[in-house]
Amino acid sequence: MKAKVFITRQWPSSVEEQLKAHYDVTLNEDDRPLTADEFKVALQNYDAVCPSVCDSFSADILNVENKRCKILANFGVGYNHIDIEAAAAQQLTVTNTPGVLTESTADLAMTLLLMSARRGAEGDRLIRSKQWQGWCPTHMMSSDVTGSTLGLVGFGRIAQAMARKAHHGFAMKIIYFKPSDAEQSVVEDLNARRCDSIEELMRSADFVSLHCPSGEATYHLINQQRLGLMKTTAHLINTARGDVVDTDALIKALQENRIAGAGLDVYEGEPNVDDALIRLDNVSLLPHLGSATIATRTAMGNKVLENLAAFFSGNRPPDKVL
Ligand code: DGY
Repeated sequence: MKAKVFITRQWPSSVEEQLKAHYDVTLNEDDRPLTADEFKVALQNYDAVCPSVCDSFSADILNVENKRCKILANFGVGYNHIDIEAAAAQQLTVTNTPGVLTESTADLAMTLLLMSARRGAEGDRLIRSKQWQGWCPTHMMSSDVTGSTLGLVGFGRIAQAMARKAHHGFAMKIIYFKPSDAEQSVVEDLNARRCDSIEELMRSADFVSLHCPSGEATYHLINQQRLGLMKTTAHLINTARGDVVDTDALIKALQENRIAGAGLDVYEGEPNVDDALIRLDNVSLLPHLGSATIATRTAMGNKVLENLAAFFSGNRPPDKVL
């Protein structure tokens, strides 16, 4: 008998074909966001449920009675949308998809950095609104990227990939903050310097890029006080998770031009984006596109397939986080 697998959102078609070949699978062909009650019913009726980073699996949902589900095979590397304590108490296995989205997410962080530095989104809006009056020596002047200093908060896979692109492609100086030293070979390749504190990094960087996971320890890590330490010419880039930044404090800093700009791919309470952010010209906004390339999303789906195959053959899934 094939295991019953429930997929919460639409996945790349080649992965969905594989799912159909190996499992008794229910897909979400309309790609409609599902409700908490629908998640509960899925947990009661399927051996595996495969959420995406947009689906919140709270304790209330995970504690539903008469569960059949034994594994949450997440489509995404971040799993802050799953209440891990509740999943542990329910003896659920949880897997994610690390590694395969590193380069595409780092590419997107660089995209936002360049957009913010060079006022790309603002220029695009100017032309579309037919307001462009033509070239002039002082029009839309912006910040240099090449040779400037990139400060990375968190120095895992994605941060290091961004640092490689920034250092080897744009001759950027690399500083980072993480509790312990990074591997010597990485530090040497990037000529990177570890800051002793986030405060030191915030003061020194021309671009601050966030790469830490979401959680209690990082909630509003970038707050009013830390934003206040940034150079007035500096930019904040966030491709990690929205709640790492205190949005109200960021909006105030941008409104008062206390920093030059921000590039955001993730938001507190997404997909809702604060109207005050939308009204600002000095912020570039993307809709959580970090891993959104065809190759990466397909590779993420294939990782879920590997995790499911290992689990249902009685082996440890390669990307088991719980
Ligand atoms: C993840 O996998 O956690 C990303 O945010 C999706 O792009």
